[in-house]
Amino acid sequence: MALVTTTEMFKKAYDGGYAIGAFNVNNMEIVQAITEACREEKAPVILQVSKGARAYANHTYLVKLVEAAVIECPEIPICLHLDHGDSFETCKSCIDGGFTSVMIDASSKPFAENIAITKQVVEYAHDHGVVVEAELGALAGVEDEVNVSAENSHYTRPEEVEEFVSKTGCDSLAIAIGTSHGAYKFKPGTKPQLRFDILEEVIKRLPGFPIVLHGSSSVPQEYVEMVNTYGGAMPGAIGVPEDQLRHAAELAVCKINIDSDLRLAMTGTIRKFFAEHPDKFDPREYLKPARANIKELVRHKLVDVLGCAGKA
Ligand code: G3H
Ligand code: 13P
Ligand code: ZN
Repeated sequence: MALVTTTEMFKKAYDGGYAIGAFNVNNMEIVQAITEACREEKAPVILQVSKGARAYANHTYLVKLVEAAVIECPEIPICLHLDHGDSFETCKSCIDGGFTSVMIDASSKPFAENIAITKQVVEYAHDHGVVVEAELGALAGVEDEVNVSAENSHYTRPEEVEEFVSKTGCDSLAIAIGTSHGAYKFKPGTKPQLRFDILEEVIKRLPGFPIVLHGSSSVPQEYVEMVNTYGGAMPGAIGVPEDQLRHAAELAVCKINIDSDLRLAMTGTIRKFFAEHPDKFDPREYLKPARANIKELVRHKLVDVLGCAGKA
């Protein structure tokens, strides 16, 4: 199967009460780990590439790695998506360069400006058979290319969503209901709680329309402990409870973005390996267990959180 857009995936996910996993890819081992888990679990998947990933690994290398996964996993639908496109030019470059889906993230701009940039991307993308994710609201959190302070974050305002979607023509909408980017999502001692009331209000106003959640890593404490045990320092790293993501997937949320969890699995595993094998220096020896642990983590997400296993 060639690379696909998310149109069919989202329709089935919406009707079936599950979500597609959108996992960030930066190198070969991560692509392999995700797609092998998806192939074995017969799950459709979105492989997404950030601006930082393109700067790190190079656009062509990433596209070719994903094309290799398409060849190796012909049974499952795979979408190649630009994560957090920051301008028309970045989106255009990915549309021209083989992506089947792009996100234009103009959520930090005023409402009218967000509409204008998103509309421009949608027109170009749709002319080229590519779908567009847009965002309303601002998630807190820090990662390489995405950085919003807690003071500048705000929930999506449901009263804006109909006008935004009808004026832009976007194909899916990322909303802010309490998730955030990175490994430090909630203050230790507080009870993590997504704002399902906002999600419900959005669903009422946009029936049948696919909703996206960013910042949806659950920060497995097993890997936080592994990092901390083997020389790291990540105190108070807390993620979104998996049962809340499962509930969101049963509603209109069709795409759930997970990146930090995979980074944690990789880093924890490699730290442990080095601590236990101080004499080893062959990258294949430490990347192999890291890849295996990412694969098992992705399998867990597909089966227990997203509900998309067996849906390919
Ligand atoms: O939300 C952002 C993704 O986790 C990608 O992060 O910009 O560090 O590649 P990055
Ligand atoms: P996490 O940092 O929670 O993994 O979120 C990733 C994300 O939203 C990518 O766009
Ligand atoms: Zn994101």
